[in-house]
This record gives sequence, structure tokens and C-alpha cells, in this order.
Amino acid sequence: MKVLFVDGTIIGNKTGVVLETVQHYIKETGCGFEMERLNFSDYDHQFVDGRPAEEYNEDMKQLIRKFEEADGYIIATPVFQASIPGVLKNAFDMLHPRTMRYKPVSIVANGGTHQHHLVVENQMKPILDYFRCLVTPNYVYTHRDHFDENSKIIDEDVHDRLKELARVFVKYTEMGKELTHGIIDA
Ligand SMILES: Cc1cc2nc3c(=O)[nH]c(=O)nc-3n(C[C@H](O)[C@H](O)[C@H](O)COP(=O)(O)O)c2cc1C
Repeated sequence: MKVLFVDGTIIGNKTGVVLETVQHYIKETGCGFEMERLNFSDYDHQFVDGRPAEEYNEDMKQLIRKFEEADGYIIATPVFQASIPGVLKNAFDMLHPRTMRYKPVSIVANGGTHQHHLVVENQMKPILDYFRCLVTPNYVYTHRDHFDENSKIIDEDVHDRLKELARVFVKYTEMGKELTHGIIDA
């Protein structure tokens, strides 16, 4: 079981901190999953413009491969202009619609204010539903007040919710394994 931890932004560090914390809690369950981190800031992104797949640069090709090879995902996104960053939407646009089918996904999101938590419901979930992902009912939204000045999570409730998200995600991987076996192209 290979889990991809996607930091879907090229700006800021709080999404990365939340992602790292989920990774810690998933490891703590003793599931033994192979875990890989995918930082968008390490990649040279190109706009999806309809060119043949082989004409994108190596970074874009590698990004697609990482998504294809994973069995499940934790996706971390900041809120930008009441939505997800363009770079994350662009990456989703690169993927074949079957790439994440029936694979478990948990979402963590960070915004500057608490008002924008519904971006997860209204923007992220419809995209992942289109991909037919197994989106866990748990997601965690954080904002400025949950961190100290060094971007360390200081809110105990956030820690508890991340721990619970990790537990549920691990359970969802069981269902994902069953469903991706003998998949029918329909
Ligand atoms: C271009 C841009 C737009 C943003 N728009 C919003 C927004 O609409 N709502 C919100 O809550 N935070 C917004 N923010 C704040 C980011 O969500 C926040 O910076 C991000 O979660 C990462 O935090 P960090 O930069 O301290 O790591 C915006 C930030 C940027 C750079």
C-alpha cells in the first residue's frame, strides 16, 4: 500500500506542517504503509494546454506517474481566493479520470481565516467525487490561530482530529483494495 502525501501549493508552509502531522499519525497506527511526499514546490509546472502527454516536461510526467502509482492520497491544500490553488487544479487536469478511481483520499486544508472551511466541501470534494475517489468523511481545516509563530500546530483539537482522520483513512484503504481489484471500465 503506497500513500502519496500531496502538498498542493508552491507558497507557504502550513499545509506542509499539517501533512507531516497526518503522516506521523498514520505511521503511529502501525499500518506499515509505504509513504511518499509530493511537494508541488519541487516541480516545474506547465499549464495543461491540450498538447500530447509526451510533450510535457519531465517534472509534469513524473507528477502524473506519482499519482498513478499511488494506492491512496492525503491531499493538503491552502485556500486561495475562496478556492484551491491554480497549481493544484492544474495537476488534477493533468490526470486521466481513472487515475484515482476507488482509491482512498483524505483532505487537509489551511486558510488565513476560519470562514473558508467550506472550500473543502464546495471545491475539493466535487473534484474528487468526479474522480470517484473514496473520500473519507473526515477532513481537517486549520487556520492561523491553530499555529504558533513557528507554524507548529498548538491546537489539541486539531491534533485529535488529525489522529482520527488517520485512523479512518487506514480503514478506507481496506475498502479501496477490494474495489480496485477487478475494476470494470464503466
Ligand atoms: C493568493 C492568496 C489568496 C488567499 N486567499 C485566501 C482566502 O480566500 N481565504 C483564506 O482563508 N485564506 C486565504 N489566503 C491565505 C492562505 O490560505 C494561507 O496563506 C495558506 O493557507 C498558507 O499559510 P502559510 O502561507 O502561512 O503557510 C490566501 C493566500 C494567498 C497567497
